[in-house]
Amino acid sequence: MTNGAFITFEGIDGAGKSSHIDALAQALRAAGHTVTLTREPGGTPLAEKLREMLLHDSMDALTEALLVFAARRDHLRCVIEPALARGEVVLCDRFTDATFAYQGAGRGFDLEVLSYMERLAQTGVGLQPDLMRSPDLTLWFDVPPEVAAQRLSAARAPDRFESQPVEFFTRVARGYADRAAGAPQRFARIDSSQPREQVAAQLRAVVAARGWLAQTP
Ligand code: TMP
Repeated sequence: MTNGAFITFEGIDGAGKSSHIDALAQALRAAGHTVTLTREPGGTPLAEKLREMLLHDSMDALTEALLVFAARRDHLRCVIEPALARGEVVLCDRFTDATFAYQGAGRGFDLEVLSYMERLAQTGVGLQPDLMRSPDLTLWFDVPPEVAAQRLSAARAPDRFESQPVEFFTRVARGYADRAAGAPQRFARIDSSQPREQVAAQLRAVVAARGWLAQTP
């Protein structure tokens, strides 16, 4: 086991999480933590190549799931586990909850098969072989799919996921809600339909309550 902290950020496309991750990294650094900031799919040269394929090349649901987990294993082995072993705080923009939400709930991929792939990909990477890496805290940016769709339509050219219809994101959002219900200690719901400052304050409060930042009065 390690002393580091593994914090993940989740939510449907357009939930607005990415703009808050840098600010949280800065706050944690100012509080004296060494922070590794990373993302999925991606985070290593190999996983970033897989990300390009996942976001832009057409493929079936099994290929998609296999590539997601291949990228995750490389990322865990080369970046996440070493950083946690050094006692760092790892902030990761998406992790396995995204696979259950997008490939599972969104695409309809069998959840038991995903669980099996999770065990296969996420054990024995610098851990005791029977331990599976899971985040210490997951910040779930929850926003109605219709609001997220409006935010996305104002953004750059959509990728394979962003171009899905709102019904897809409704299923993904339900997938996240199921994951949160299954792990209430680990998940913290952030209401990201609120104005930016209030979302930032919610984030800080959750991270402070876990002892990684000072509490603000
Ligand atoms: P991002 O735009 O938040 O970086 O995420 C890239 C896309 O990849 C996003 O639409 C969600 C998708 N994705 C999955 O489908 N499964 C996964 O396991 C992960 C990590 C991301």
